[in-house]
Amino acid sequence: MAFRLAWVTDLHLDHATLAALTAHVAALQEADPDAVVVTGDFATGSSLLRWLRAYRRMADRPVYFILGNHDFWGSAVATVRAAVHRLGEETAGLVYLTTAEPVTLAPGVALVGHDGWYDARAGRWEAPRFRMQDWELVGEYAEADDHAGIVAASRTLADAAEAELVPKVAAAARTHASVLVATHVPPWPLSAGEGRHPDGEWIAPWYVARQLGLALLAVAEANPQVTFRVLSGHAHVRREGLAIAPNLTCAVGGARYGRPGVERVLELP
Ligand SMILES: [Fe+2]
Repeated sequence: MAFRLAWVTDLHLDHATLAALTAHVAALQEADPDAVVVTGDFATGSSLLRWLRAYRRMADRPVYFILGNHDFWGSAVATVRAAVHRLGEETAGLVYLTTAEPVTLAPGVALVGHDGWYDARAGRWEAPRFRMQDWELVGEYAEADDHAGIVAASRTLADAAEAELVPKVAAAARTHASVLVATHVPPWPLSAGEGRHPDGEWIAPWYVARQLGLALLAVAEANPQVTFRVLSGHAHVRREGLAIAPNLTCAVGGARYGRPGVERVLELP
């Protein structure tokens, strides 16, 4: 029997009414998956731990998750990660993939993940035409008082994420035929494979983890016998299976504020 993994993303539970939340939980129960994977943006920093505990209870099955940029608002990435790591350690069935080893979900199928970050390397990153609230609300940007500082802080976060995630993906590929990679910021532009760039050249720096994409492609090319599927969110624009290489695809989940949904159920392997 296939392992059924429900994928949800960008829930932004702090925007959801009780009715919307109830509908989401009902949809999850109706789908009745073996586990849930969440690709970031549960809420914001101040309410995150409460929401994580509540979501684990409501989902009533194992929840594998990473965090998104909103989850760090009002705090700092390092602080939130440490608190969430502790919560994961003490809560059965709540697995923070960012600090976890690869998880074997089904025979030959691994799940690995990392929050990730945008790296200001795609599109027109050199000038400020687009603002992210992260730059005011996330502690790692506190010292960034000009655009160069924002670019540098973004790259520091993205590079640290890449350095932690890529070795886990490579390790999982040595022992599994199929590797699912959960990371909040898409490693490729939504237009990947189509030769276009609808993301907008001014927005792409803050919506793509470009160097991570190059590193994941290198791992896929080094392991042609392994299938890699990347699941991302952040963009709130649904893209099915962007083909990056014959054995590497990326899907981006859709989302609407106040309407948490179930992106889909993956049947594994
Ligand atoms: Fe996001």
